Amino acid sequence: MRKIKPNYSSYIVSKWAKTQAVIPNRKLAQYIPETRKLNRDSLRGMLDRHGMVYVKPNSGTYGIGVMRVERLAGEGSGSYRCHFGTKIHTFTQYDDLYRHIAGLTRKRMYLVQKGIHLLKYKKRRFDLRVMVQKTPTGNWQTTGLIGRVAAPGKIVTNVHNGGKLKPVEVLLGGHAGSAERLRLTSGLRRLGTSVARQLRLKYRRLKEIGLDVALDEKLHPWILEINTAPDPYIFRKLKDKRIFARIYRYAKAYGRL
Ligand SMILES: Nc1ncnc2c1ncn2[C@@H]1O[C@H](COP(=O)(O)OP(=O)(O)O)[C@@H](O)[C@H]1O
Ligand SMILES: [Mg+2]
Repeated sequence: MRKIKPNYSSYIVSKWAKTQAVIPNRKLAQYIPETRKLNRDSLRGMLDRHGMVYVKPNSGTYGIGVMRVERLAGEGSGSYRCHFGTKIHTFTQYDDLYRHIAGLTRKRMYLVQKGIHLLKYKKRRFDLRVMVQKTPTGNWQTTGLIGRVAAPGKIVTNVHNGGKLKPVEVLLGGHAGSAERLRLTSGLRRLGTSVARQLRLKYRRLKEIGLDVALDEKLHPWILEINTAPDPYIFRKLKDKRIFARIYRYAKAYGRL
């Protein structure tokens, strides 16, 4: 196995670097959708394999610059659709699609990731945020779960992009019974601490992470992004005030707030 070079920053920008730090763990790799650096060939290959993909800036935040790209099957097959913000463009030639995307990405590094068909709540897509923190006694703990619902017609769920916060139980209500919800949320809590431990092998100063997790129709969790300075304040939205209180206390203890 390759030796891991330690890195002593606690905030890591590159989505690519964070993904690469998790992939060597075979158990965790199954939760990461296939991700490549964007170029003409990788996008074509990813569309062939997955039909729908997300294209996003390697060092982006707030859902800015994120695109959803599809290869249309059936009628009009061989054509492509690119959804960016609230705009949708359709192309019949791959080269035209790529030229359009290259005009938006310019020289910056972008990633192309297998697209997950997110579950919906009242016709809107949603995903989940899993907050994981170092406790004052030095253990990793998942301290909060919350759902984020995309604004109508939007392909991203970020609160800074019109997304709305909702309790996970409410969002999962229509998709799973109470026993299954419990099984799923305990699994997500364990996933959170496992990812934190794995990342810590490389990023020695890490104290907190926030996973953006998508669920597909089989309720399989997919890690879309690992945030290393996750917003603690979104958890103020939850009725149970003890959740935010604990998140705040831990963050204070390791000096984030
Ligand atoms: N592979 C994907 N499949 C489905 N939705 C995605 C995918 N990647 C990103 N998204 C959507 O876009 C949002 C923003 O993407 P993310 O990778 O978290 O970047 P950012 O740093 O801008 O938050 C996600 O919260 C999710 O709603
Ligand atoms: Mg995100």
